[in-house]
Order: sequence, then structure tokens, then C-alpha cells
Amino acid sequence: MAQVTLGLIGLGTVGTGVVRLLRENGDLIEKKTGIRFRLKRIADRGIREFREFALDGYELSESADAVLDDPEIEIAIELIGGYEPARTYLLQAIERGKHVVTANKALLARFGGEIFALADQVGVEVGFEGSVAGTVPIIRVLQDGLAANRIEKVAGIVNGTTNYILTKMTEEGLDYEPALAQATAAGFAEADPTLDVDGEDAAHKLAILATLAFGVRPEAKDIHVEGIRGLGQEDIRFARESGYVLKLLAIGRKTNGHVELRVHPALVPKTHPLASVRNEFNAVFVRGDASRETMYYGRGAGQMPTASAVLSDIIEIAERSLHDCRRPECRAAVRARKRSLYWSSDRFRPVDGIRSRYYLRFPIVDAPGAIGTLTTILGRHGVSIAAVHASIVDASANKGRIEILTHEALESAVKESCLEIGRTGILREKERLIRVEE
Ligand code: HSE
Repeated sequence: MAQVTLGLIGLGTVGTGVVRLLRENGDLIEKKTGIRFRLKRIADRGIREFREFALDGYELSESADAVLDDPEIEIAIELIGGYEPARTYLLQAIERGKHVVTANKALLARFGGEIFALADQVGVEVGFEGSVAGTVPIIRVLQDGLAANRIEKVAGIVNGTTNYILTKMTEEGLDYEPALAQATAAGFAEADPTLDVDGEDAAHKLAILATLAFGVRPEAKDIHVEGIRGLGQEDIRFARESGYVLKLLAIGRKTNGHVELRVHPALVPKTHPLASVRNEFNAVFVRGDASRETMYYGRGAGQMPTASAVLSDIIEIAERSLHDCRRPECRAAVRARKRSLYWSSDRFRPVDGIRSRYYLRFPIVDAPGAIGTLTTILGRHGVSIAAVHASIVDASANKGRIEILTHEALESAVKESCLEIGRTGILREKERLIRVEE
């Protein structure tokens, strides 16, 4: 029986899941693949404090060098997260001819170009299925399943923590903080949960999806990012009463040679498939020119679902490397089949240039003519109103509220309207703007 030797760097939530899955399902994987996966070394700075189960049978180390320096290890698994030293470890592993598997979306979003270029040069593989949407095999879908398509749109719920929080706020009326505490306790959140709630984690995943879907290499400035921190029960109420569900979406769309990339809360109609994605589940909707609409669903965070994705990379890379015929031309063909990326000449469209429908909530001073002032300004900027609802929040304090749903409009026109409305002095607080994703 063929054997492939593995080394693991990082024994956190997902790393522990990988060890557990290899122990629990190793025999089954062996039967299915004909390959025995031997986890030889585990490196983690806190390995001495590990108490979840006995680590008998592995060579343990506090230093990643133990894995990197071991020529027997064919696949190095990096699961420490963050930029450094993860980047250095991955580059060193590649330089030493090891295939690498990672779930580090932040690293790939920023340094993917460097890592893939070196891997191509050396002739090794980089597996990263676990980096986007946990267990959902969306990387394979874009690389293999939909390879014949021009991808027009990718829209997904790709952060389990924020989807969990929004679900609890919607279904149980929970406030934001306790919902976040629950998501953190369940092991869904990043070590720094601001990455989740401020939308950065979703933006990292969108950058990876955009590279595969559209052949672009976005930098942080090319992705418009808004998180969920400011959302409250007033937003949830509007969504519920108006037939929408509030979700944090990552959206990539290509039109006329331009790619728009954005992460923000969005009102999704209750009938849309993404509306029924609850708790830590993720889903990615992909539209190709030939395939038309497709959607992929599963647990986007958590120890074992992400470990499942990491193991899928390990298995795939091992199978391919064992079938590698070792001739130079054969090796090239193998590499090109799987991991070569294509680059388009598409440009990025800034968020001000997008078109969408908008929900706008204006907390107004209840004064004569306020509604007229507001709707006139929107009209002057070419923003057409589909529905408007005005109400008194507190009559004794002259506090009112105007909620508006627009028809599709240019974002810059909506924002200019809001600025002009703010300057009239009729607002008590800043307006709320939430995009509608049909
Ligand atoms: N913090 C991430 C999430 C983990 O909540 O989706 C999976 O990438």
C-alpha cells in the first residue's frame, strides 16, 4: 500500500480536527484511496498544554522547523493562521519541495500570488479548499466543475460567525454581543473576531473566489467592505415586515469587462435560496454563462467541517502526486491541470459605480414638509422610489422615521442624495443604507 507522510504546523481548532479525523477515519480513507496517510510530526508552540486527547504515536515539537526540516514529510499542513510566520513557513515548505495545504484565507488573499508562483516554479501543489466556506467544496467547483464557464456572478454567505449572529438576532431576538459570544464559544470565530464582524474575513474569501472566478488579483482597496456591527433590531424588524432576511453577503459580479467586489449586509428576499442559510452554514451562489445558476451549501466554520475540507486537499494532492509519472513533461501537465491560475484584463468597478436597490431609513425631525424635501432630493438625483413608509417614533419629541425602498439606482446618486438630505437639517441621526440583493 502506498504511504504519504504528513507534517502538521498548528494544533488549534482546525489542526486538532485534522488529527482527530485522521485517527477516526484513517482506515476508511485508506480503503477508499489505497493510500495510508501517516501523520508523522505535529508542531505547535503550545503543544505541551494540549489536553484534548493523547498525542501518542506522533513526533511533537514546539517549533515548525521540525516539520520543515524533515525530508520524509511530503505534505506540510499549515493551520496556524495569520500572515507571519505562516507565510514564511509555507514558502520554506515549498522551497524544500513539499506540497502544502492551508486553510489560511487571510494569507492567500494577500500573499497568494507569491505562494502560487513559487509552488509553480518548484512544481508542488497548494491545497486551499478549507480556506473558503469551510466544508463547501467551492474551490473545486470553480476550478473543475464550472471550468468551462465564464463566471458572471459569485454571491455567498462565506462567514459562519456573522451568519450565526444574524440568525440569532433574527430568530431569537438576541442582541449582537451575546450572539457573538455564542459563536465564539462554538469555535466559529477567528482568533480576532473583529475580522468576522467587520467583514474582513469574508473579504479575504471573496478575494480568493474572485481570483478563481474572474481571473483577477484584488488588493484590499479593490473590495468594498462593511461589517455587521452597526446592525440592530430596527433593521431586523424592517426585514421581517418587508419579506426580507438580513445577511452578510460577499458579492463578485462581472459586467462589461469590470468586476465589482463587495462585502456588506444585504436584504435578501425570503424566497431567495440564500435566505434559508442559517447559523454557521455558508452557501455560495455561482452563475456561469453556460451552467446558469448553481448553489453550494454546507457548514462554513467549525472544527470538523473545516478539517474535512483540509483532508480532501491532502487526499487529492497525494493521489495526484502518486500518479505523477515523474517525467518532466508529465509533471508539467499534472501541475497545469489543477493549480494554474488564469488572469484576465478586467478592471475593478468601485462601489460608487454599482447599481442596486436600496433600503434607506431616515430618522427625521417631525416637521412640515420633511417627507417632501426628502423625496424631492432623491428624485432630483434620479433615484426612483418603489415604496415609502413614514411613521412617528415619539410624538412628544417630534421624532419621526421615513423608510424608503428604491428601484435600482446608481450608488453614487443614492449617496449624494443622502449627503444633501443630511445638509437640510431634517435628520436626527445619520441615515441607514442597506443594499437589496435580489
Ligand atoms: N471565522 C470563520 C467564519 C471561520 O466564521 O466563517 C471559517 O473561515
